[in-house]
Amino acid sequence: MATGSRRATAADIVASVQREISGGGLPAGSRLPPVRALEKQLGLSKNTAQAAYDELVARGLVEAREREGVFVLAANRTLAPTPIVRVPLPQLVPPPLSKPDLPGRGTTALSTVFIDPELLPTERIAECARSVLREKMPAQYEAQGYRPLREAIAKRLSARGLDVDADDVIITTGSQQSLDIVARSLATKRVAVESPVYAYAKLLFESLGNELVGMQLDPFGGIDLEVWDRALATRPSLAYLIPSFHNPTGYSYSSAELRGVLELCQRHGVAVLEDDWGSDMMSDGEYRPMLRMLGGKNVLYVNSFTKKLLPSLRVGFVAASPELVPTLVAMKRLSTLGNAWLTEAVVAEFLDRGYYDTHLAALQRALDTRYAACLAALEEMMPDGVRWTRPGGGPTLWLELPRSVDMSALESHLARRGVHISNASAAFIGAAHLHGFRIAYAFLSEIEMRSALTILADALRTLAR
Ligand SMILES: Cc1ncc(COP(=O)(O)O)c(C=O)c1O
Repeated sequence: MATGSRRATAADIVASVQREISGGGLPAGSRLPPVRALEKQLGLSKNTAQAAYDELVARGLVEAREREGVFVLAANRTLAPTPIVRVPLPQLVPPPLSKPDLPGRGTTALSTVFIDPELLPTERIAECARSVLREKMPAQYEAQGYRPLREAIAKRLSARGLDVDADDVIITTGSQQSLDIVARSLATKRVAVESPVYAYAKLLFESLGNELVGMQLDPFGGIDLEVWDRALATRPSLAYLIPSFHNPTGYSYSSAELRGVLELCQRHGVAVLEDDWGSDMMSDGEYRPMLRMLGGKNVLYVNSFTKKLLPSLRVGFVAASPELVPTLVAMKRLSTLGNAWLTEAVVAEFLDRGYYDTHLAALQRALDTRYAACLAALEEMMPDGVRWTRPGGGPTLWLELPRSVDMSALESHLARRGVHISNASAAFIGAAHLHGFRIAYAFLSEIEMRSALTILADALRTLAR
């Protein structure tokens, strides 16, 4: 049980015995040294050896026999059963999308929608988690979600002018699950979406058998309501819209566009699902309403804490109308029975302490600085013919390239230099009217951004030759 020069702790002893057992050094039936002898031998503080042995007993590795000592137990190895059925093979071919997970080390992720982990309030989340574990650890769960969290969300949204009660809110595993239960509850067959659109929403709706109707979104020119009118006249059951800092273009609807789109949906009898992943990442002083504000409880409203708070918490939610809530809850129950209330309680605690608003304000200041630096670097470095949007908030902007640039050649050229961009082709419905990709200014530090844009500018010049 060598533990180096510092005094061994109970955890060291447990780890050391565990290693010995699995390595065969301590076969079943071996007797561990008596507590006192071990304490003397290793110069341990009092009770350390006993605590370690108690832990080994709790782990089922050893047993304490009265007046005899502590003995290693036989490992409980189960033999693999002889196979009697064949493993089924998947019938669906996975979609050709790059991984949306957090980018790996060693590559500069120029298109990720995640926020730099350095800007996330991990210490305060840990503080809330410790408090929940100490005092409020929920033993049960309910499919609709932890009530104090639903209340805190409804309070926040009401303060922002949205008509939402705690009973309207269903907590989901990220907003992705909200999209899933909404589509299932409405039994949609046809869904209208912006083109381009958040690719995992498109793939989700398609995987549920929906036909997608694309509504062209030009982030430089805005929305052509006449074109959208024609698309909505095909009477899809649902219009899925991302009006604030649209993914992937960074575009935000103007107030007139918000009203215009709602009127069209009302006229054609189309339900509205607002994915509001971005409106709380807006600079101070800016004001833009949300669809739910204008359309009240008729608008299904989805938002999420995952990007802005901590991706691994996976907490999102949908606010619906009282008529739809029971079906949405039933769909969620069928899929997961319920989410981990422990995580929901941690987020509730975070909101309750007022940490979220403080965090969003600090985050926004940091994003504003990165955004300004990114615009300045683009201005300075991009060759003629390259254009970009100026979203003024959110995590990303759209970079539009001349048609002459071969996107796959650019992608591989950049990948060889450690810069990863996401191929937007999967985000369009039908032919792509844009030719570019998303630039993430919320993920990269100013230095990383400058170096990635230097590589990009260099690649564009090389490919143009
Ligand atoms: C627009 C949009 N909506 C929804 C989601 C799903 O996010 P989550 O499930 O992490 O809340 C994403 C993820 O990137 C997104 O970009």
